[in-house]
Amino acid sequence: MNPFQYQRPLDPARLIDRREELDALQRAAADRVAVRLASPRRFGKTTLLGAHLDAMRQAGHHACLIDLDRVATVGDVADRIVDGLRQLPGIGPGILEGRLARLGLTIGPTGLQLQVAPRAGRSAPGADQSRAAIRDLMELPAELAQHGDLVVVAIDEFQDLLTADDRLDGLLRSVVQHQRDRVAYLFAGSAPSLMRMLFADRQRPFFGQARPLDLPPLPAEETVREVLALMPDPDAAGVAEATARIVSAAGGHPQRTMLLAHHLYDLLDRGAPAVDAAERALRVALDEVSDVCDAVWRSLHRSERVICAALADGIPPTSTALASEHGIPRSTLQRAVERLVEDAQHVARTAGGPPQLLDPLLATWIRRR
Ligand SMILES: Nc1ncnc2c1ncn2[C@@H]1O[C@H](COP(=O)(O)OP(=O)(O)OP(=O)(O)O)[C@@H](O)[C@H]1O
Ligand SMILES: [Mg+2]
Repeated sequence: MNPFQYQRPLDPARLIDRREELDALQRAAADRVAVRLASPRRFGKTTLLGAHLDAMRQAGHHACLIDLDRVATVGDVADRIVDGLRQLPGIGPGILEGRLARLGLTIGPTGLQLQVAPRAGRSAPGADQSRAAIRDLMELPAELAQHGDLVVVAIDEFQDLLTADDRLDGLLRSVVQHQRDRVAYLFAGSAPSLMRMLFADRQRPFFGQARPLDLPPLPAEETVREVLALMPDPDAAGVAEATARIVSAAGGHPQRTMLLAHHLYDLLDRGAPAVDAAERALRVALDEVSDVCDAVWRSLHRSERVICAALADGIPPTSTALASEHGIPRSTLQRAVERLVEDAQHVARTAGGPPQLLDPLLATWIRRR
């Protein structure tokens, strides 16, 4: 089986690097310091959370993951909390059910339901009941931890909470702020600007409440070594060069690295000559993502396209020459760059440096368009 998985969070045993991040998370958990992990999409947040929770469990602590990916209602949030808390070993049979029964709720096949008289039909709880359930359920990790245990609660796609109800962060904070010495919270999110808004806006309840942790690109040398070791015949002529070529084309982007490695493995495994395998893997990968790249391109305004094309070519995106070539005022280009950086979906500034396209395959697609 192809060892390069690029569509799901990675098995912790397959993780490349992330030692510093795992160390930082472990130290924060030991000190009961809450952490917020924000990065662009597909940079390995869920993978890192999984590896951290695994390490915590192996060290004898309790750990659970609450996944708020695309929750739409307060009821969805309550359901996901139930799913997450079930992973805690201290939550034996009946504990969650007992808690919910006090609120008149049961756990049905599709999520929380109102406990009603037999044969009176079932209905979903209203927003207020779901809110009460969330408050009550979130007390459970701290109760479990009363005997000096450490409980680690990771909440993934935390920013989606605001889609369900833009005051839910206040409710959550009112519960978790009293648990700080018993429960270590880890908030991860995909939309960096939204995560910033949740934690860095003075008006929001979680303002300044969690230590930020970034996910940098994967380190090139180690990535080449680890990827090469998993190729069908790592010592065969040309395989090391082909591996180095795709790792460089992926520019440290974790998901793009695995996607390219997957296709390189596939080609080599089917007997393709190593000499042009990297270029062929790149073409297959570009084919696979071309719909997505096309959709991204279409979603951009004219000045944003000019900027992304310049970034793909390695040209400064707000130069006077570029502005006059396209007949766009420089100030318009400058504002568009700031907007793209703020949005953090396609463009980012690494460590205060110049803006860059986040997805190396999008950059290649734009160049070859
Ligand atoms: N440390 C790593 N080493 C190797 N590959 C990684 C690593 N982290 C992530 N990946 C690759 O990136 C892919 C996406 O990872 P993951 O799902 O954890 O990212 P995410 O940031 O949670 O993504 P999303 O924004 O879609 O939720 C994985 O399938 C894997 O191929
Ligand atoms: Mg994820």
